Amino acid sequence: MEQLLCFLTFISVFVDLGICKSNETFFYFAYGSNLLSKRIHINNPSAVYYSPAKLENHRLDFNFFVEAWNGAVSTIVEDDTEEVWGVLWTLNIDQMKYLDDQEGVTLGWYFPKNVTVTTPDGKQILARTYQETMTPEKLNKCEDLPVERRPSSTYLEVIALGAIESHLPADYIAFIFSFPSNAQMATAKRRNELGYPF
Ligand SMILES: *[C@@H]1O[C@H](CO)[C@@H](O)[C@H](O)[C@H]1NC(C)=O
Ligand SMILES: *[C@@H]1O[C@H](CO)[C@@H](O)[C@H](O)[C@H]1NC(C)=O
Repeated sequence: MEQLLCFLTFISVFVDLGICKSNETFFYFAYGSNLLSKRIHINNPSAVYYSPAKLENHRLDFNFFVEAWNGAVSTIVEDDTEEVWGVLWTLNIDQMKYLDDQEGVTLGWYFPKNVTVTTPDGKQILARTYQETMTPEKLNKCEDLPVERRPSSTYLEVIALGAIESHLPADYIAFIFSFPSNAQMATAKRRNELGYPF
């Protein structure tokens, strides 16, 4: 018995020292609320900022009402004529499951996808990102988002603040503000998590 206890202590010390933990990291490309460091760190405290990056042949869109946000959330959609800016975060491979959980992968909300993005200095980087399983219809240029596809004011503000904090291009920040909101706020719980008021 004593020997067993000693052995278990020995093992747990090794685990505590991190010797059994993987150092492997991966790049995550965030284009929605996870642009904001405060937001991504709620579920993924170890995420480390790497760089802004551009995803070609995709557009930013909104679809699918999420209660905590009190509005529709963002997604990317394949689209030859547009590009999406976002942030590359470096995460430990062990945290991938928390990211998948946040994106509701097992619930069928988003699916993970490998994309190649380009940093402002021209580096091409393979990253994990997420796309909604329900693809929103493309609107024509003069058409506003229908009300049920509009993000809440809080969500839009979080994306825009994240874009500013992450040094995305100024014209892309203006583009984010061009989306109409549904004029609702996220739930008090979500706003508290985010540290509102900013
Ligand atoms: C993790 O990093 C540490 C320090 O950089 C290194 O000593 C160790 O060998 C690495 N472990 C793995 C599994 O790569
Ligand atoms: C992305 O690429 C990695 C490395 O090749 C692979 O292990 C992973 O399954 C891919 N993920 C997706 C969602 O395709």
